[in-house]
Amino acid sequence: MSKTGYAVVGVGYFGAELARIMKQNQGAEIVAVYDPNNAEIIAKELDCDFETDLDTLFSREDVDAVIVASPNYLHKEAVLKAAEHDVHVFCEKPIALSFEDCDEMVRVCDDKGLIFMAGHVMNFFNGVRTAKKLIEEGKIGEVLYCHSARNGWEEPQKEVIWKKIRSKSGGHLYHHIHELDCIQFILGDPLTATMTGGNVAHQGEEFGDEDDMLFINLEFEDNKFAILEYGSAFRWTEHYLLIQGTLGAIKIDMNNVAMTLKTEEGEEKFLVHETQEEDDNRTAIYRGTDMDGAIQYGQPGKTPPMWLHSIMKKEMLYFHNIMNGEAPDKEFENLLNGKAARSSIATADACTLSLKEDRKVKLSEIRRK
Ligand SMILES: NC(=O)c1ccc[n+]([C@@H]2O[C@H](COP(=O)([O-])OP(=O)(O)OC[C@H]3O[C@@H](n4cnc5c(N)ncnc54)[C@H](O)[C@@H]3O)[C@@H](O)[C@H]2O)c1
Repeated sequence: MSKTGYAVVGVGYFGAELARIMKQNQGAEIVAVYDPNNAEIIAKELDCDFETDLDTLFSREDVDAVIVASPNYLHKEAVLKAAEHDVHVFCEKPIALSFEDCDEMVRVCDDKGLIFMAGHVMNFFNGVRTAKKLIEEGKIGEVLYCHSARNGWEEPQKEVIWKKIRSKSGGHLYHHIHELDCIQFILGDPLTATMTGGNVAHQGEEFGDEDDMLFINLEFEDNKFAILEYGSAFRWTEHYLLIQGTLGAIKIDMNNVAMTLKTEEGEEKFLVHETQEEDDNRTAIYRGTDMDGAIQYGQPGKTPPMWLHSIMKKEMLYFHNIMNGEAPDKEFENLLNGKAARSSIATADACTLSLKEDRKVKLSEIRRK
């Protein structure tokens, strides 16, 4: 296998680990990193170069692709610059903080024949893959309804990081787009979105300005529905995705970590992650003090937990294989054809507009703009 050279933009908590993981793949080389704060230390660790501007980074002959893991509001700049220099892209979630930006990023890459992979890592969970397979096999009949919750309680912060600032992260919905993306993989795009909520318990200097309670109601074709809850104003921590069908239901519980298939024949358990140890490790983390309820935020210098590390490995290997000419399979094709990126941000925008204007919003209003 010939060498594939990767650049990494943003080497904080997640980007540094993606780089460490990618470097393990056969034929993969991290050639340079870019980060205004952490480039030098990570370059030293990875034994690669660091660059101080994007044009220089992307005009390097040895950069074939970039892994973009900068703060959410900065993804667009890096992706457009990469495309300008014919560099393929893996972009962390949320791809962008508006449909317009997301659409432009995907389109520019597409127009140039470049790979654009959306970093929607939840699709690599064992539990999510199994759930999709069980649905395809007809085990729960026709899916009628999905319900997700990603709720916890945020304590006062010593330092308010970018992840808590609406204009930088997008707030809970955009920053934790995983559940929305996952539901849309199952039910397709909704016709309408309604969102209520607000910042009900986290005002002041020790907090960001994002809404800490969000309630989303989605309507799909053929009388199918979804309800999603997000936020950091919930003392009763929950994190799950529940899929209700005509013949049964599936619950992927990411708090008391386990996946359950419930049908007339009884209950069957499956792993959410790769091993029982990983599932138990995640449950233990939720019970610990290292996170704000269901919301765990990394920081530069911190290492992701084992369950996350192992799906990051799968995701990076997948991207590396695509870079080496493997065709996307049906299961993941929407991560590579712009669909997952566009659909999730379009719905998030419809929700945002709904909350702002206090009305139900048609997805076609967002797509038309
Ligand atoms: N898929 C997942 O489960 C998952 C988990 C965590 C983070 N992420 C995503 O990864 C990205 C990074 O998050 P993180 O947790 O590593 O945050 P972080 O704050 O730990 O790291 C962000 C890094 O970006 C750097 N940075 C700041 N401005 C920059 C710029 N203009 N260009 C390049 N880099 C810049 C910072 O110095 C920092 O090192 C975000 O998009 C986030 O949503 C995804």
